[in-house]
Amino acid sequence: MNVNIFKDYTECNTKLAEYLIKEYLCQSKNIAISGGSTPIGLFNEILKLTNKNFEVKSRIFWVDERCVEPTSEESNYGSAHKNFLSKMNIPKENIFRIKGENKPQNEAESYSKILNEEVDIVGGIPSLDLCLLGIGGDGHTASIFPHELDKLIKINPCVVGTNPDSGQKRVSLSLNQINNSKEVIIHACGSGKKEIIDEIISKKDNYLKYPASHIKPSIKNLSWYLDFDSAENFMN
Ligand code: 6PG
Repeated sequence: MNVNIFKDYTECNTKLAEYLIKEYLCQSKNIAISGGSTPIGLFNEILKLTNKNFEVKSRIFWVDERCVEPTSEESNYGSAHKNFLSKMNIPKENIFRIKGENKPQNEAESYSKILNEEVDIVGGIPSLDLCLLGIGGDGHTASIFPHELDKLIKINPCVVGTNPDSGQKRVSLSLNQINNSKEVIIHACGSGKKEIIDEIISKKDNYLKYPASHIKPSIKNLSWYLDFDSAENFMN
């Protein structure tokens, strides 16, 4: 496990952007991105570090998607399109969005099929080159929430999760699918994450109840990209 700690959100995003540009975006690799607010700062740094002649060669998949229209404010695709994809030189055929507007189980099966067709198969299931994850204060990652942990440790590449607070359905990569990636990065900044990050990295109390504790990529180490605020408890 590599734990990278930077002084603030901006520096964390700059360093992660530099890494992604060098190792992924300028190569024909398969990466899956998460939603939420954390990636927005990262997208901004990628835009700052590249110019309009930079062509994104990697193919973009999603770790999860809320079951909403792509035009919804809540859509992970919608957020990535608004803040990143619409501002980058990336061929449309390199974008594989999860169709949140479809029936959840149908889309989970359909996206599983797409992953099986488009991505290397390792150990019988697709192996993405990179999964870029966030983490919630409850220890969820992707759309794998603590109350559904058992349900989502599935061999199927994609499953249907449920946000316990809103009841919102989401299509998500399963834990097994995430762990079959060649590299996994958890990107988490801000003091709101400091307790959960310390519990998980330091393996405190019953940390295994958190889905993010089960992220163990089979090929490379898991890397954390944190800032002083999110790593405060872990560092002290
Ligand atoms: C989602 C994400 C989710 C996110 C965490 C952190 O669909 O919401 O995939 O797993 O990464 O909830 O969200 P923030 O970056 O907003 O803290």
